[in-house]
Amino acid sequence: MYGYETYEDDWSRQQNKLVRQLEKAINGEYSAIQCYEKLAELAPDEKQRKGIMEIREDEVKHFQRFAQIYTSLTGVQPQPKVTASCPESYRDGVEFAFQDEQETVDFYREVADGVADRSVSKAFNRAAADEQNHAVWFLYYLVGLKG
Ligand SMILES: [Fe+2]
Ligand SMILES: [Fe+2]
Repeated sequence: MYGYETYEDDWSRQQNKLVRQLEKAINGEYSAIQCYEKLAELAPDEKQRKGIMEIREDEVKHFQRFAQIYTSLTGVQPQPKVTASCPESYRDGVEFAFQDEQETVDFYREVADGVADRSVSKAFNRAAADEQNHAVWFLYYLVGLKG
């Protein structure tokens, strides 16, 4: 038996890995939903407030899609937790969001590349494309603040 690995062992290890990645993604989306609500309230003008609320809507969709995948894999609903604390000032919040969005792009692409299921891979790639777009918007807001 030593060094011998069954197909089932390998499959369940991959499933466990995906479930842990989904938990991280779900908590990240959940945290962003709360944080962006706060940032929208702090926004200096109506245009930025609306822009951030639109970004927040994307995060709600990502959250729902990942929760759906999680539930279909595990048979239970996810228990989302806020994992990152949201900065108190608008400037710090936008800077934090910009960095968090970029890190999330890398994480989602990594998950998409490592997963066998094509619909799961597609869900992560689509979310990654949205996060990339969010990062650009937050950078634009950040540049405006520093000017
Ligand atoms: Fe997202
Ligand atoms: Fe995002």
